Amino acid sequence: MAAEIISGKELALKTRAELKEETNKLISQGVTPGLAVILVGDDPASSSYVKGKEKACAETGIYSQVDRVPSTISETELLEKIETLNNADEIHGILVQLPLPDHISEDKVIEAIDPQKDVDGFHPINIGKMMIGKDTFLPCTPFGIIHMLKSKNIEISGRHAVIIGRSNIVGKPVGQLLLNEHATVTYCHSRTANMKEITRQADILVVAVGKEGFVDSSYVKEGAVVIDVGVNRNSEGKLVGDVVFDEIKESASYLTPVPGGVGPMTITMLMYNTVLSAQRFVE
Ligand code: GUN
Repeated sequence: MAAEIISGKELALKTRAELKEETNKLISQGVTPGLAVILVGDDPASSSYVKGKEKACAETGIYSQVDRVPSTISETELLEKIETLNNADEIHGILVQLPLPDHISEDKVIEAIDPQKDVDGFHPINIGKMMIGKDTFLPCTPFGIIHMLKSKNIEISGRHAVIIGRSNIVGKPVGQLLLNEHATVTYCHSRTANMKEITRQADILVVAVGKEGFVDSSYVKEGAVVIDVGVNRNSEGKLVGDVVFDEIKESASYLTPVPGGVGPMTITMLMYNTVLSAQRFVE
């Protein structure tokens, strides 16, 4: 069976067009959704992600401001900047691009963001709400994955979802969201014994490892849905995922590509959360 490729690029375009309509409604009510991004230092990958976020804001009619600060900024100064944004009426979403330099505590920074403006969904209060299934900002990559599955009417309830990876940003929360959708969830990670035996049971396999070619067809059951969250550079400098795409596309039922899969949806869900936040401020 040849897999149907789920294009995150196409779904992102459609979702961004819908969001633009919501933004226009808000603007007609006198509120322009606003996103503030703080970028510490000049890491090329982080700079490129932030540019992508600015572009997506422009496309969806969201006001954006990016504060680029040197990596020598002190933790106190950064926390003060966040406090100013917490109190800024025109800002509905605050995002501090991670990772941060070693002298700054990521935990302190995340916890300093007003949970009502935490459009990344990283604040412990929002993570707690997600755990108990309450309405909250959902972390963008996991939320984008759920959106992709739903866009293809892929059944989640009652199915076995296996996640490879247990990061706080992707692995753990995507498992939680799939559980909230009534999947049976198993996590695999670097200490998992007999990983293939587990992943071969997956109806939905989410791969978030960060290693090129980690998952080949020996990990995947015929007809499984495979979501590739990896973003790696191969030896030719090209962006590639964690999955051996050409192999898996022969046996999966659905497969996400890299690039053009989960990545564009992550940014789109950030726009979604920012618009949602502005709507909450209007209510
Ligand atoms: N760095 C890599 N991904 C992310 C993300 O989703 N949010 C933030 N704030 N930083 C990141």
